[in-house]
Amino acid sequence: MSGKIIIITGANRGMGKAMTQKLAEMGATVYMICRDKESGSTVENEFKDKNLSVTLKITDLENVEDINNLVQEITKEQNHIDVLINNGAVNLEKATTRIENIPLEILEQTMNINFRGTLLISQKFVPLLKKSTSGRIINFSSGLGQLTEWVIILLIVSLKPL
Ligand SMILES: NC(=O)c1ccc[n+]([C@@H]2O[C@H](COP(=O)([O-])OP(=O)(O)OC[C@H]3O[C@@H](n4cnc5c(N)ncnc54)[C@H](OP(=O)(O)O)[C@@H]3O)[C@@H](O)[C@H]2O)c1
Repeated sequence: MSGKIIIITGANRGMGKAMTQKLAEMGATVYMICRDKESGSTVENEFKDKNLSVTLKITDLENVEDINNLVQEITKEQNHIDVLINNGAVNLEKATTRIENIPLEILEQTMNINFRGTLLISQKFVPLLKKSTSGRIINFSSGLGQLTEWVIILLIVSLKPL
């Protein structure tokens, strides 16, 4: 990881924060992406106090212009990036919500952040990733996004009739 340039979305808390710390401790330069300026700055300062190489970039993955500005800014600062970690996401509805009760605005917001935001940021960083000798995109998912045969069997067994 030494010398690698890594972008991590959702870096102000949870697994994104933990990955930021670990990768920066291993010698990477990490760009921390999140929406919330206050918690982002607090975590950035916490890591800078430990002499870790981190830079906060406030970006809302729901906002296309924000993503464009982020890519432009980093393109001005770096001639390549090595890894993009798509970790930032929302889970706005309880897993127990029935399909007929999911509000349209929740569905749209979830798709705009988790799907469109992840796709757009990936597309737009491809040129910088291609300039790396080891460019990688790492996408975070969920057990529910991995419908293996066993999960499908478990789901069928646990399904209640509508
Ligand atoms: N934790 C679990 O049990 C679990 C299970 C399955 C999958 N996952 C997946 O693993 C990843 C990390 O999970 P976590 O629990 O560590 O996450 P978390 O603590 O809920 O944090 C979510 C992160 O995503 C960022 N984020 C959300 N919406 C954003 C937006 N519109 N623009 C920019 N950043 C945004 C948040 O930043 P702000 O604070 O600025 O909003 C925050 O840093 C996620 O992709 C999640 O879906 C987690």
